[in-house]
Order: sequence, then structure tokens, then C-alpha cells
Amino acid sequence: MSTSDLDKIDAAIATAQAPGLEELSTGESIIPAAEIARLANEFFKAIPGTPPDATLSAVPAPLSSVSFAPAASAPVLASAPAPIASAPTTQIPSTTGLELSRSVPFAEMPSAAYTSPQLPSFASAQIPSPARAAIPVSAPQSPSFGFEQIPSFGFGHALPTESDVRSAFNSGSGFYFLPVFQAAPLPAANPSPVASAPATVQAPGSLPDLNLSAGFFDVHTIRRDFPILRERVNGRPLIWLDNAATTQKPQSVIDRISYFYEHENSNIHRAAHELAARATDAYEGARDKIRRFVNASSSKEIVFVRGATEAINLVAQSWGRRHIGKDDEIVISHLEHHANIVPWQMLCSEKGARLRVIPIDDDGQILLEEYEKLLSPRTRIVSVAGVSNALGTVTPAREIVQIGHRYGARVLIDGAQAISHMPVDVQALDCDFYVFSGHKMFAPTGIGVLYGKPDALAEMPPWQGGGNMIVDVTFEKTTYQPPPGRFEAGTGNIADAVGLGAAIDYLERLGMHNIAHYEHELLKYGMESLRRVPGLHLIGTAREKASVMSFVLEGYRNEDVGAALNQEGIAVRTGHHCAQPSLCRYGLETAVRPSLALYNTHKEIDKLVDVLLRLKSVG
Ligand SMILES: Cc1ncc(COP(=O)(O)O)c(C=O)c1O
Repeated sequence: MSTSDLDKIDAAIATAQAPGLEELSTGESIIPAAEIARLANEFFKAIPGTPPDATLSAVPAPLSSVSFAPAASAPVLASAPAPIASAPTTQIPSTTGLELSRSVPFAEMPSAAYTSPQLPSFASAQIPSPARAAIPVSAPQSPSFGFEQIPSFGFGHALPTESDVRSAFNSGSGFYFLPVFQAAPLPAANPSPVASAPATVQAPGSLPDLNLSAGFFDVHTIRRDFPILRERVNGRPLIWLDNAATTQKPQSVIDRISYFYEHENSNIHRAAHELAARATDAYEGARDKIRRFVNASSSKEIVFVRGATEAINLVAQSWGRRHIGKDDEIVISHLEHHANIVPWQMLCSEKGARLRVIPIDDDGQILLEEYEKLLSPRTRIVSVAGVSNALGTVTPAREIVQIGHRYGARVLIDGAQAISHMPVDVQALDCDFYVFSGHKMFAPTGIGVLYGKPDALAEMPPWQGGGNMIVDVTFEKTTYQPPPGRFEAGTGNIADAVGLGAAIDYLERLGMHNIAHYEHELLKYGMESLRRVPGLHLIGTAREKASVMSFVLEGYRNEDVGAALNQEGIAVRTGHHCAQPSLCRYGLETAVRPSLALYNTHKEIDKLVDVLLRLKSVG
């Protein structure tokens, strides 16, 4: 391809008016469309890695029908769920040597809970109406603009001391990263050993029936909403069983975030222009969706944070520093994630307070009578997981709150592992605080929620200072926003908050009761299937469980089991799951943790069990 050919292409691109033109003018001469196509083909063929037979037609085809043939040797996703057999195929060359196959554009696929982007439409080209133009700058037309002013609570707390920082560094228990493990060799796959098992297995004694109405729950249709589930790993279809670590995102969430950046992106609450109003409405709209989703009484009870970890730290540092003193007590349980242990330890060492731990039984259930024995007038706060991330235990959160309140304690429920698996009603729970992370409920990372009762939030001084959380600043004095703004200093994660709102829309369309019912049946099946693997020990067999099926396999290191599963395209977590004390209770340092979400299937569990049985047959 000559330099002059490239110049012609540049010129053609620079002056192109719209796709589909028969001819393009370079300014000097008219280039026929066929010539453009020829030059473009030359151009693309000159790019390394372009399939040799990729050809552009003279008239550009719609994007959805462009087809690049895969490289001959690259594996192609043969079993991708392709609802429309005759649909055109778009092969997306990948840098890993694998080819992604998209049978039809996602937006065209039949979808369980997502048909086409139901996004707000803005009359962006409209000339402002006189009424709108008359709105003063200080009162933009967005319903969410601006927070009301309330008197300041002031900075009542001390900065962290040097010894806090030192103990935080010293208490570290290592990183998540594991050495590279050799996957144990597997014999050839047999027909699934549990394939012959009846589809509805006998309910294992440890899981009760929930008596929820099944409703409509077509998991295969739902799976089409999650593009990453078409991915292949090590030549096999991805089986994502690491949902307790993070969940995959539906197309509607991905699209909503793109839409935000394409049409709404602005900082919020502060400017008088149109995009500020759109962004503010989208952000505050998401806050209101969260309010509805957890049944809070007002969106002012919903604080955006980075995730459950930040939410707990916020309560510990703001509420805790103000209300906890020497010899006071903080109660947690033996089931907690490190995020619900370390912030309280830090507070205890700063204030001279004590951490008390509710014991669990051998199945991983909270011992309620022991809990009550720990409580006293010195108990200031109780902080307990709604669902354990290591054992899957569903804790009796309502009773824990009631009992804690009898002793005058505030109660925080860590809902990080509960929020995507069951309906949550913070008013029915009557908890003072409820925390969760967006990324564990099909929303992006970096966004999460602290719910607080109005009186609890009102007792909390600001945590971080800066923009957005203030009403008025002089060098002499600052007045703060009321909650939630006072806890959202600086520019927040606006787009991902909006993405969290879209994830909630998605979940609400499926129905949390339907999800809970489906997952409950799936978990029963999974626990029963795993019990059939010789030498497999389940860790966490509580009567009430959600999602998590931790185990160890005799004769194998947990990391090697994880590596062997990964070779088969199955993603599980191995390690301490940031819940070392929970595993320690069973004499373990690590475990293998498959964890389920609404898009997992019985067949995926069969494949998991098949690999484990094959491992045992060679081990
Ligand atoms: C029960 C529980 N609490 C808190 C967290 C911390 O969540 P994040 O890392 O999203 O802040 C997790 C994460 O796994 C968890 O499972």
C-alpha cells in the first residue's frame, strides 16, 4: 500500500459525511465508494493480525453484521448460548488468542430482565423554555439539586495516632496473592457423575424449604443478559462460581454506565448547567432506587461509599469515635469478614475499648444464648454479618438486632453477602446501620452503601472534610451538610452509583423472592452433589445458608483444587476469604469456596462435581 493511498484514505476519512455514501469527496477529486473499499481493505490487511479474508464491501454494512472470520487455529465459543441460530456472527479478535463470538448484538437478544436500554431521554437540543431560563442559578430545575442546610456538628474526633498506624501495618496477615500452583492432572472427562441424579435431589437436612413462590425464573434467558458468561477460559465455557468475591454485570448495567458518560457526565450538585442537572438527577435517582430496594424510609438515610469496607470504617471512625470510650464493648461474631473485625479492633486500641466475639457451633450457626451473655450496659455497638462470606450461614439478624437493642446498643448488619441473595428490609430488621457493596450485587466496583437510621446518622460527625459535604466555609468556621451529603466529601463515584441503580432495576425486574427461591434450590442441589465426592468435607452446614459452599478435599491442597478447576474453566476462590477466624474455628487456614449467584445452573454444579470426582480418581 503506497503513501499516496494512505493519504487518500486520510483525506477521505477527514471529509466523510456519513456512512453509506456512494462516493466521498476529498476536496480535490471524487473517490468512488468501490475505491474507498479497496483502499480500506488494503489498509486493514496491512495491520498485523487481521484475518486474511476480512473484506469490506463497497457500501458499509451495519455494524452488527460485520463478520471477521476467526483465525483457523483459534478456539471458538461453540456452545455460546445463541438464541437465534441464523443470526449473523461477529468475531472479535482477542489478544489472548481466544476468539469471542457474539451471535447477535446483545441489545437484540431475548433478555430476561433487559430488553433495550430503558434510559432517560433528554431533550438535549431543546431551547430552554422561558420558565426554565427564569430559574435562578441557585435553584436549578433538577429535583435533586442542592442539600438543605442544618447546623454544624463540628469535628469532635481525634486524628489517628502513630501507634494506630503502626498496629494497622503490623496486624497485616499477608496478601491475597497465592504462589503459582500446578493444577493436579485430571483423567479424561467422564459423563457427569451426577448427571444421572434426579434433577430434584432430596433436600439435605441442613437446608430448609423456604416456601417461596417460584414465579418465572428462566435461568438460561437470564444468562444472556451477562455477556461475560459467554467467555471461554482454557478452552472451556467459563463457569463463574466466585460470586461471593464479586458478581458479573448484566448488559443493562454496562450500558447504563456508558450512557452516563455519553450523555450525562458532569460533576453533581454544584453547577447550573444542563449536564450537572442530568448527572445529579441520575445520581440522586440511584440513591432513591436503593432506598426503595432496602425499604429505607428516606433517601437521606442512604450514604454512598466505596463499599462495605468503607461503610464499616465510616461508622467506626465517625459514630464509634464519638460514642465509644474506655472499657466500652463492641460485639461481633466469629463469622465476620476482616472488614467487620479490623475497623473495630483499631477503634478498641485507640479508645481502650474491648472486642467481644459471639461463638458459633460446629455447623457455623451463631449461638444466640451465648450472644446474650456477652451483652451488658457497656455494649455500645453490635456488628454482625447478615450472611457469612466463608461459611454461607444466614444469621438471625432480626433477633440479633432485637436483643442488642434491649441492651441499648446500636446494631450494624453487614449485608455484603446477603444483598444479592434475598429481599432486605431495613425497617423490618430495625437495624441502626446496614452496609453493602455494589460489586457483589451485579453493579460496578468502587460503589457501596451505608444505610443509617436518621437518629443514628444525626449522631455522627463528618468523617472526611472537603467539597460537597459543606454548606458554608469561612476560615473561622465550617457548617456541614446534613446526612447523607455530610459523609460524601469530594467528588464521589457518580457513574458507578448510577450503575448500581441499574443493577437494582435489574434485580427488581427479576424479583428478589424469585431469586432467593431459585438460588435456594440450587444451593440444596450443590450441597447434596458435593456430599457425594469421597473425601470432601463441607465447611459451614448451617440450616439457613446462602450461596457459599466451602469445602476441603482430602489429599489435595486447596490451591491445587482451585488450579485444577480453573483448567476446566471453573472459577472458585481458594484461600482464607478474608475471614481467617471463621476458618480457624474449624482448624483450617484456607478452603475452596464455590459460591452461587442467580445465573448459575444445575449443570454447572454437575461440572464442578465432575472435576472433583476426577481429581479424587487420580489422587
Ligand atoms: C461479609 C463481607 N463483609 C464485607 C466485605 C467487604 O466488601 P468490600 O471488599 O466490597 O468492601 C465482604 C467482601 O467479601 C464480605 O463478604
